[in-house]
Amino acid sequence: MKDVFKIGVIGCGDISTRNYVPNITSRFRNMEIYALCDLDRERAMALAAKHGIPHVLTLDEIYEDSEIDVILNLTNPQAHYDVNMRALRAGKHVYSEKPLGLTLQEASDIVRLAEEKNLYVGCAPDVFLGAGVQTCRKVIEDGVIGEVLSAKVANMYHGPENIHPAPDFFYRKGAGPMLDIGPYGISEMLYFMGPAVELCCYGGIGIPHRPVKDHFVDVEVNTNYNGIVKFANGKSASVNFSWDTWGAENGPCVQIYGTKGSLFLSDPDNYGEGSRVHVLLEEDLYGEDGKISRDKTSNSNAYKKEVPLLFESPAENRGLGLCEMIEAIREGRPARANGDFACHVTELLDGFNIAIATGKPYEIQTTFDMMERLPEDFIREME
Ligand SMILES: NC(=O)c1ccc[n+]([C@@H]2O[C@H](COP(=O)([O-])OP(=O)(O)OC[C@H]3O[C@@H](n4cnc5c(N)ncnc54)[C@H](O)[C@@H]3O)[C@@H](O)[C@H]2O)c1
Repeated sequence: MKDVFKIGVIGCGDISTRNYVPNITSRFRNMEIYALCDLDRERAMALAAKHGIPHVLTLDEIYEDSEIDVILNLTNPQAHYDVNMRALRAGKHVYSEKPLGLTLQEASDIVRLAEEKNLYVGCAPDVFLGAGVQTCRKVIEDGVIGEVLSAKVANMYHGPENIHPAPDFFYRKGAGPMLDIGPYGISEMLYFMGPAVELCCYGGIGIPHRPVKDHFVDVEVNTNYNGIVKFANGKSASVNFSWDTWGAENGPCVQIYGTKGSLFLSDPDNYGEGSRVHVLLEEDLYGEDGKISRDKTSNSNAYKKEVPLLFESPAENRGLGLCEMIEAIREGRPARANGDFACHVTELLDGFNIAIATGKPYEIQTTFDMMERLPEDFIREME
């Protein structure tokens, strides 16, 4: 099998320009970008010129080009299904930005077609392969916090209008906190806790007629979610996402509670550098008399210990999941950021909205095989 896979990128917008294309062209040695394509051809031409990418192709050309091994789909979510399906029909492996499809049905169709064609399909977010999440997983596997009992995932702030220049679309169908930021925390939670079997959720639209910069937006999507997820292993987790709250953003986004201690991960959308992992252990809460100290438990933040990250990784490393998928193709094994996992994540995202709409628990149909940790020297070897 070839040493370097040729990638055809469809979609040359913000994340492509800011992250994927510079990252892939400068970091990963098992792939090279062979061609770019965008509905806006000039955008693709400018990006190709900046990074020395040899071809700018039309949509018809990029699917037909026999040099291309993998289509990297960086289009807007509404185009993901068509681009992913067309690439598979043309015999290419696919790696897609999230979500794999807009609904579970779309995501399942894509995975089924890939299976029929004996092709790989992978999907972002791949942040669970970054140093922060990998370090957490090792802490759990090493039994440092004992038996895992439950988890909490929280990402709550007052919406993206304070950080984005044109934020109206975040409140339209296809967005909202569950689809936009949910995939990060949800995929990390599943990577720690395993497949989910049921969820319930309450929430809704907190501020229907919302002041956004100098105007108002009529909000079309739920903006606050208070959910509980039950896993196949019988454990459970709480999930809180909101764009309605003030002052709730401080604190770790993912927390795992075990019999001997707790684990805290600071930022779900960060691959390494800047990602902080802490543990709080029962043994550190004993007083001099050898018993649990009430002074210490009431001030437990002071007794959290920072865990050094397992390996070096930049804060932004999108494309890592694609890099790992290429190694999986070469070795004939499942990729870590794989289609079954993406389908399961998509079903949970859907499920939270269905549970809010019906007021009833939602039973989850899909599952995935738990992926192993990334070898600690993987990123170094791939550079
Ligand atoms: N921007 C971010 O910070 C960010 C972060 C993480 C993930 N993502 C994900 O990345 C994807 C792209 O987001 P973005 O912010 O770069 O969007 P964007 O709107 O900036 O760019 C999307 C590009 O895709 C092109 N495009 C759309 N449909 C197409 C089609 N059918 N064929 C060819 N080109 C097409 C558009 O012309 C545009 O240039 C989304 O799935 C988003 O969820 C974005």
